[in-house]
Amino acid sequence: MAAAEPAEFRDPRLVAVYDAMCPWSREDDFFLSLVNETPASRVLDLGCGTGRLALGIAAAGHRMTGVDPARASLDAARAKPGAERVTWIEGRSSILPAAAFDTALMTSHVAQFVVEDDEWRRTLADLKRALVPGGRLVFDTRDPDARAWEHWNPIDSRREIALPDGRIVIAWNEVTAVQDGAVSFIYHYVFPNGLDVPSAATLRFRSEQEVRSSLQDAGFTVEQIYGGWNREPIGAGDGEFLVIARA
Ligand SMILES: C[S@@+](CC[C@H](N)C(=O)[O-])C[C@H]1O[C@@H](n2cnc3c(N)ncnc32)[C@H](O)[C@@H]1O
Repeated sequence: MAAAEPAEFRDPRLVAVYDAMCPWSREDDFFLSLVNETPASRVLDLGCGTGRLALGIAAAGHRMTGVDPARASLDAARAKPGAERVTWIEGRSSILPAAAFDTALMTSHVAQFVVEDDEWRRTLADLKRALVPGGRLVFDTRDPDARAWEHWNPIDSRREIALPDGRIVIAWNEVTAVQDGAVSFIYHYVFPNGLDVPSAATLRFRSEQEVRSSLQDAGFTVEQIYGGWNREPIGAGDGEFLVIARA
């Protein structure tokens, strides 16, 4: 059974914080540049969240579909300028049409929210079916060897986030369990009135071998795995696996 989505994506108060915390970044540049290698293409953003990247890709002239299970995030996406250029669908990979996309993306570590092996297998099978033959799947997932979760503590992770209305939200993260390749944590968001709205989540950290073999089992050919946003090799970049696979 699929895990419940974290409050971060389904509570409208936290969705507004997410948007303020996550403006366009070099990570979006990385994904957009790969999509642009196929001009005017059909692109899927699975786990599109509040739509930042989907809107940017649509504005670059691609036919864009954004899919996400969290209604509040999609509502925020639908309210943004240019939203009419994107087809927004509430759901997971199971609702994807067949042979409909040239490129499928999962960005900002959506792949890690798919924790269980059987759900990951189903997600990859659905993505393979949704891509045209030769289409590309591109996603990011953190390299477990970089042990990013060791910085997810109240001191290292503390941030002050300014909302568009000027309010400041203080956020920090604390890990509650590290087990079987998965890291559970609670993100705290404290609003100016003192209200602490926690968001619990579990992320799966797959090894390079697990990433490669799961893709191969789903019928993909792995073309490239970078270790960082400037296309560094694994281990020499940002502690990421930036995966490009062909259907
Ligand atoms: C960290 S956010 C990333 C959102 C967006 N891709 C971005 O770059 O801002 C993770 C998103 O994955 C979505 N998600 C979680 N589990 C999912 C699943 N099984 N299939 C598709 N999306 C999922 C969440 O609802 C959330 O919007």
